[in-house]
Amino acid sequence: MKTLLVSGALGQIGSELVPALRARHGADRVVATDIRAPAGEARDGPFEILDCTLPERLDAVVRRHGVGTIFHLAAQLSAVAEKNPQEAWRLNMASLTAVLDVARQHRCAVFFPSSIGAFGPSTPRQHAPQDAIQRPTTIYGITKVAGELLCDYSVARFGIDVRGLRLPGLISHATPPGGGTTDYAVDMFRHAVSDRPYVCYLERGTSLDMMYMPDAIRGIVELMEFDGAHLRHRNAFNVTAMNFAPEELATEIQKWVPGFVVHYVVDPVRQAIAESWPRSIDDSAARTEWGWRPAFDLASMTRDMLGKLGLTAASGR
Ligand code: SER
Repeated sequence: MKTLLVSGALGQIGSELVPALRARHGADRVVATDIRAPAGEARDGPFEILDCTLPERLDAVVRRHGVGTIFHLAAQLSAVAEKNPQEAWRLNMASLTAVLDVARQHRCAVFFPSSIGAFGPSTPRQHAPQDAIQRPTTIYGITKVAGELLCDYSVARFGIDVRGLRLPGLISHATPPGGGTTDYAVDMFRHAVSDRPYVCYLERGTSLDMMYMPDAIRGIVELMEFDGAHLRHRNAFNVTAMNFAPEELATEIQKWVPGFVVHYVVDPVRQAIAESWPRSIDDSAARTEWGWRPAFDLASMTRDMLGKLGLTAASGR
């Protein structure tokens, strides 16, 4: 039985994808990898420290564990990538090309997460279609478009089974914010549960599509398990679950934390990134081709998030 490998396992998606895959396939069959060691001793399955920009290192791990599927999550997010664009390009592209090379040699399937960041100002602002103009103005978006194209190319040219989602902003209680533009939402929750006011770096009215992590994890698993013969797009499926601006999230949180206060001090860099992305995306291709349906909306996500972060009223305890 082949195993599954996750790169960037300690990151935002990996921290929840690894436990989900282990619950589904058995802990021993999921190899978590990251550039750094996990904090503490607790490990519930195989872990390898791995710089996945180095194909020979990745190749050795894939051989040693008999890997059949690679979930390639290691990447820099949008805001942190703008601080050092050369490094973001190097990391995001060298790791993906290494993954695709090794996958080609070992006939592995690959999952690659793209993003709403793969769109740009010339993309339709509302309900950005599956197949739309993509001229991103961030280095993160440029690596995501290049990645989407490389993934499509690898399917067509080498017959590798590469699949992917274009994810919106992800909200998770498992990891602290990790350098994304949409991470204000995660930060807002963390401030609310610890009774601290939050200074939001995006302006009121900056609506973006978002998704609660359990939906993203389920979407990744469902796409990878779907009969590939019936997929028309295969890579970069638009998926979304909800749409809100910072003040709408604040209002929803205030239903549970009435004294919660948000101030707005705009960070021009992150505001410009957010404004370069569409306000909303159209995920009808994912819905039609493989049955994508989100389970959480703003209200149910807020309640669950606050409960998971320890707010007693929201958790019903
Ligand atoms: N959440 C990501 C970011 O803000 C977008 O994919 O960078």
